Amino acid sequence: MPLPKAELHLHIEGTLEPELAFELAARNGVSLPYADTEELRKAYDFEDLQSFLNLYYELMAVLRTERDFEDLADAYLARAAAQGVRHAEIFFDPQAHIARGVGMGTVVEGLWRALGESEARHGVSTQLIMCFLRDESAESALETLEAAKPYLDRIVGVGLDSAEVGHPPVKFREVYEAAAALGLRRVAHAGEEGPPEYITEALDVLGVERIDHGLRCMEDAGLVERLVRERVPLTLCPLSNVRLRTVDVLADHPLPAMLDAGLLCTVNSDDPAYFGGYAGDNFDAVRSALGLGEERLRELARNSFLASFLEHDEERRARYLAEVEEYRF
Ligand code: HPA
Ligand code: ZN
Repeated sequence: MPLPKAELHLHIEGTLEPELAFELAARNGVSLPYADTEELRKAYDFEDLQSFLNLYYELMAVLRTERDFEDLADAYLARAAAQGVRHAEIFFDPQAHIARGVGMGTVVEGLWRALGESEARHGVSTQLIMCFLRDESAESALETLEAAKPYLDRIVGVGLDSAEVGHPPVKFREVYEAAAALGLRRVAHAGEEGPPEYITEALDVLGVERIDHGLRCMEDAGLVERLVRERVPLTLCPLSNVRLRTVDVLADHPLPAMLDAGLLCTVNSDDPAYFGGYAGDNFDAVRSALGLGEERLRELARNSFLASFLEHDEERRARYLAEVEEYRF
């Protein structure tokens, strides 16, 4: 039995496995510029975040109907459950779909068909986090929040993703203020490729409660001290960092130093279809490459539930935390 954990940094579009991409392409009459899954997999050799994003957005062309989003999410939840995920807070990128003529309703209703069945079918509780694309305009983000208003009972919070450098958090001040006024929780990617200042800005200007990635905080001792003091969770994604060349090899990953510094780190999969593994695979990888002991792994699992947006159901959080403490490696 795998270690119970929550997944807090997962882009549902990044769970699109090559086999499902071709299946959906055939179902929807969409042609992909790859002969087969093998040729597509060869394109998974990324140089940086942007080179990944190009393929990530290209393959989304196969996602057209509610059923497509349902199938995508259900396939993810089955894989996540098999790797010990008990709770998943799932990102989606509506602007990338709306731009292709696929409406907010199709995306949210489709995902919800799978999420609504997830506890019964897979034993995984779920929440949805709507991300704004930071390389799109602030106005577009505001329009996206407006389009989401009929579905807010299904969305726990907002996030910020896509190309980071040159798109500082401050650009999205207004939409985050509006999201907060609507009672939405707030997170943002920061310090993946962007500088530590973006982490500070996400906290101070956007009021985020968690930082997605946040790896580059390690360049600023004062910032690390603050993140420790304020218990700001970081949703790290080790296999993603290697594939996008944020770190050279997994053995160089700063996770052990971050834990030693007292940071509230979690381990997540980001875009598992593209980066070589789901949540459990990321745990296994850091365990072997970084020599993390059982108590460190337990700490990471405990952190994942502590950092979850489960305030509406503290009984559930306590149950999950008890599962972590009782786990025998
Ligand atoms: N970083 C930024 N944007 C993203 C990512 C990521 O790792 N995955 C999907 N969109
Ligand atoms: Zn991400």
